Amino acid sequence: MNTPEGKKVRTIAIASGKGGVGKTNITASLAMALRKLDKKVMIFDADLGLSNIDVILNLVTKYNIDHLFKGEKKLKDLIVEGPNGVKVLPASSGIQELTTLDEFQRLRLIEEFEAYDEGIDYLLIDTSSGISSNVAFFCMAAQETIIITSAEPTALTDAYALIKVLFTKYQEKNFKVLVNNVQDKKEAVEIYNRLSTAAERFLSISLEYIGFVPHDNLVRKAVCQQRAFLDAYPDSAAARSLTEITEKLNNDKSEHVKGSLQFFLGGLINSKC
Ligand SMILES: Nc1ncnc2c1ncn2[C@@H]1O[C@H](COP(=O)(O)OP(=O)(O)O)[C@@H](O)[C@H]1O
Ligand SMILES: [Mg+2]
Repeated sequence: MNTPEGKKVRTIAIASGKGGVGKTNITASLAMALRKLDKKVMIFDADLGLSNIDVILNLVTKYNIDHLFKGEKKLKDLIVEGPNGVKVLPASSGIQELTTLDEFQRLRLIEEFEAYDEGIDYLLIDTSSGISSNVAFFCMAAQETIIITSAEPTALTDAYALIKVLFTKYQEKNFKVLVNNVQDKKEAVEIYNRLSTAAERFLSISLEYIGFVPHDNLVRKAVCQQRAFLDAYPDSAAARSLTEITEKLNNDKSEHVKGSLQFFLGGLINSKC
């Protein structure tokens, strides 16, 4: 998988541990913000058993990842074009088996990603809640992981638990943190500091704060309209914050630690989740 210029695709997993903290909404709007920067984006709905992205973006999906695993369809047959040209690889809903991918399914994904040759710049992976083997597997396979937390103590403890598992089991040390659904920057920084203090003290790893998205009633309104908030309400406080985060993220030219989508593929093969 390459960018239109034949460069490496940037793969970012969005994870949280706890459900309902904003992963899917942030993923959808991050994709929209990247499109505004003229980037070609694909969202991989990796909440394989309980898909959401298709609902949030009001997509009609004919096929899903289950058809790929059954060998009935190719990756390119599954991909649907979402708003503003965002490509979406839909998951499926209500298929319990997909909550833990087996070796065969991982191999199938690898083959399909290898064969996919329509250039994209960013692959955003919206993971499921919990600390399942699938979540660990997608976080390890991506080059970067954005951990989303809100101010709720349970969101913080679950974010810490996910970081701890990825570090202790897979030696992952690089985590970006986005604080969602808070009043203001002050609250966001306080929340981030709590998480980063725990990570430094107990795991000896430094986290990277990438910003916050404030609580904004227009996020919920956009969900009800089945649109990404950045698309429906570009001037909302939430959209403005995420646009700023996206611009910084896109300008961050530091070498992404794990290298390339090659790692995504290699990670899929080697991950012993
Ligand atoms: N910044 C925010 N401001 C207000 N409500 C939010 C915000 N972020 C998320 N929400 C609310 O939280 C709900 C759950 O978000 P979602 O993206 O589905 O979470 P997850 O994917 O982590 O389970 C949304 O439907 C929305 O109502
Ligand atoms: Mg979700």
